[in-house]
Amino acid sequence: MSQDAIPKLSGYSEAALDLAFAELTREVESSAQALNSPESVEQFRLQWLGRKQGRLKLISDAWLKSAPVEAKKPLGQRFNQLKAQIEERLERASGASARFALDAEGIDVTLPGTRRALGPEHPLIKTMHEMVAVFKRMGYSVGVGPEVETDYYNFESLNFPPNHPARDTQDTLVIAGQERKPLRDRLLMRTHTSPVQIRTMEQQPPPVRIVIPGKVHRNDEADATHSPIFHQIEGLCVDTNITFSDLKGTLDHAMKEFFGSSVKTRFFPSFFPFTEPSADVQISCPFCGGKGCRKCKHSGWIELLGCGMVDPAVFGFVQQKQPAYDPKKISGFAFGMGVDRIAMMKYGISDIGLLYSGDVRFLEQFA
Ligand code: PHE
Repeated sequence: MSQDAIPKLSGYSEAALDLAFAELTREVESSAQALNSPESVEQFRLQWLGRKQGRLKLISDAWLKSAPVEAKKPLGQRFNQLKAQIEERLERASGASARFALDAEGIDVTLPGTRRALGPEHPLIKTMHEMVAVFKRMGYSVGVGPEVETDYYNFESLNFPPNHPARDTQDTLVIAGQERKPLRDRLLMRTHTSPVQIRTMEQQPPPVRIVIPGKVHRNDEADATHSPIFHQIEGLCVDTNITFSDLKGTLDHAMKEFFGSSVKTRFFPSFFPFTEPSADVQISCPFCGGKGCRKCKHSGWIELLGCGMVDPAVFGFVQQKQPAYDPKKISGFAFGMGVDRIAMMKYGISDIGLLYSGDVRFLEQFA
């Protein structure tokens, strides 16, 4: 029988229909045997289901249309069964043909998949999370702020007057093309996380206890201890009757939690425009216990952070949006620490650039 021909129907009795459909069923089965490529699957589909010349279409035209009324139902049932059989074969074969294609590419789909190694936390992020966790346990919440800042938040509201020399200590990277804007609106890369102090206070009335981890940028020449990108954790606590003792107690406790309970802290007078008084904080070297070693450059002490009591002038700027920050009624302290140095100390990393190299061989050591 030619491919397109359809069997002869000797009448519309059930016996005659069974005979004709039995033959069609056999033909479907035998042509389905040869479905071993995407092309043969398509050929099979056209042969049986093709809209114009497909065999089902021919059968429907030749048999169904001229069938007497009482034969329409038994004929239709058999026709639908045949169609379901063809579709089932096609479905099976197209699944298989997708696999043929992979076989042809030399891919063995029965092999287990490639496992991607789950990356561990970067040593810097890990250090940051651990330090933030210390403050969370003391009841601090965690905040973030933008890395592209305005002059107002990065400097002016933190009591750096325009042209004040203190601005020069920050080696600011400014965004180009801002000259036509008023100074306070000009964009720059934040040089510290302190602008988020202001943003936080503008958003909520006191009391505030918050730590802000984040990336900061300065126009520093890269060397073993300097990188134009580094990380800080800012802290801010504002409430009634907050004193310098609270600042000392909080930082002393946090350093003991992080580095071990035998670590001591000491405070030296310092200067920041947004705190008064200000201090630099050192911890006794956690590696040698203060005797002097390479990590503390044989001094027994390591300088870790800047801090101080929030300057009333800073509250003055915040009051433009949140009048509750009245320096006569509330007070607070702030601190900022460099995360990179802490991570480098903790893991014995001698070059800060390694933290930003993205070199997997370096990072794998911390897995
Ligand atoms: N922002 C300061 C710096 O980057 C650190 C600091 C934060 C000091 C908060 C005092 C209070 O150097």
